[in-house]
Amino acid sequence: MAKHRKGEILTLEVEDLAYGGEGVARLDGYVIFVHGGLPGDRVQARIVQARPNFGRATIEAVERPSLDRVEAPCPYFGRCGGCRLQHFAYAAQLRFKEKQVRDCLERIGGVDPARVRPIVGTPELYSYRNKMEFTIARDADGQAVVGLHETGRYDAILDIERCLLQSDLLNAILAEVRAFVRERGLSVYDQETGEGLLRFLMLREGKTKGEAMVNVVTGAATFPEAHELATRLRQRFPQIAGVVQNVNAQKAAVAVGQEEHLLAGRETIQEVVGGLTFQISANSFFQTNTRQAECLFQLVLEFTDLKGPETVFDLYSGTGAITLLLAQRSRAVYGIEVSGEAIQDAVKNARANGIDNVRFLQGEVRHVLPDLHRKGIRAHVVVADPPRAGLHPKAIPALGSLGPQRIVYVSCNPSTLARDVGLLIERGYALEVVQPLDMFPHTPHIEAVARLTRRN
Ligand SMILES: C[S@@+](CC[C@H](N)C(=O)[O-])C[C@H]1O[C@@H](n2cnc3c(N)ncnc32)[C@H](O)[C@@H]1O
Repeated sequence: MAKHRKGEILTLEVEDLAYGGEGVARLDGYVIFVHGGLPGDRVQARIVQARPNFGRATIEAVERPSLDRVEAPCPYFGRCGGCRLQHFAYAAQLRFKEKQVRDCLERIGGVDPARVRPIVGTPELYSYRNKMEFTIARDADGQAVVGLHETGRYDAILDIERCLLQSDLLNAILAEVRAFVRERGLSVYDQETGEGLLRFLMLREGKTKGEAMVNVVTGAATFPEAHELATRLRQRFPQIAGVVQNVNAQKAAVAVGQEEHLLAGRETIQEVVGGLTFQISANSFFQTNTRQAECLFQLVLEFTDLKGPETVFDLYSGTGAITLLLAQRSRAVYGIEVSGEAIQDAVKNARANGIDNVRFLQGEVRHVLPDLHRKGIRAHVVVADPPRAGLHPKAIPALGSLGPQRIVYVSCNPSTLARDVGLLIERGYALEVVQPLDMFPHTPHIEAVARLTRRN
């Protein structure tokens, strides 16, 4: 029932925001997602896609702006695929995120939305990221660029001089690397042909210790200027604790290498969260917003309400940040994680912090949980922090038969959280409370922590 044609220009009233941050307008029941549209906007928009059930449109002119529309401070806003909501007042971003969590829980999970607490925002609206990944490419004129993908384009990189989501230090390092690449005319990887050297620049920062790490990802191991670059960076920025090179010779455009070479300094930087010190290497997973990670971990501790004698399972334990915090307040914690590298980091982190009541088990949650059950190992409390897809359908019955007293679910996707909460309710749990929190201002990402208790 597509009533509109591609190229048509329409006047639309934007009513809502969809999960990914697109404005939602309706015309005689036909839903149109308006790129950059905000609730309360009246816009002239051009239809760029007309499907039978919905369409997509881009704004030609804002006729009447939403009361929540603000000037986006970033000069790349709209073109850069990074932040999509910088033009939405922060208080309105928070309202939108909280509403998304409520709506999902009610619609998908069938639970009382009153269980959802008001969202916790962050005072740090910019410079909050401790890790950024930039792509190194060539623009149409053949000039080397170091930047981020253009909105909706996997093949076009916007040269970013300054990204507001990272610190001034990381921006200065970014500028220095770009200058070096251009001055020395370094070879740049071509994603189409697979030829060329430089692929990604990953910058990390240990916010609490003020240390930085530079990781240059290349398509081949031979990088003759590597040591010169590393020395120049460390001379200009004494905060750089280490410079590494990761080699990714495979086609997949990921900033993770099959081999790593230390170019200068050390391979890891330190970050302190929840009173624990974590060694973070170039490829380690670590929460990207240090300040809000502190807040998230405190919530998890509050919701687990550990008294000391409990055995806890930490599902999807990553590099063990939550596992180690739980271990300080319980008898024993089992961390379950599929990635062997993450487990290695977790083991090192446990050792470095003198924590010995943890065991990390490698495998998929849906397999490891029944194994532990068969061995007679039970948990009083389970914490789960799954990826966006949520719990595996087979992990739910395994969790149900394990029957922990409490489940604390850390979610980065309200719709899978709602689905899983609904399934856990069917298996004898009650949802007590959900606390949304904002870890990524100006992006549509939503984090929430839910606490469920066994009904009998
Ligand atoms: C959101 S991260 C958890 C981070 C962790 N809580 C931390 O703070 O370091 C999700 C983790 O789940 C792991 N993972 C993904 N699928 C899995 C599965 N089926 N079984 C076990 N772990 C899995 C990923 O490797 C990743 O480390």
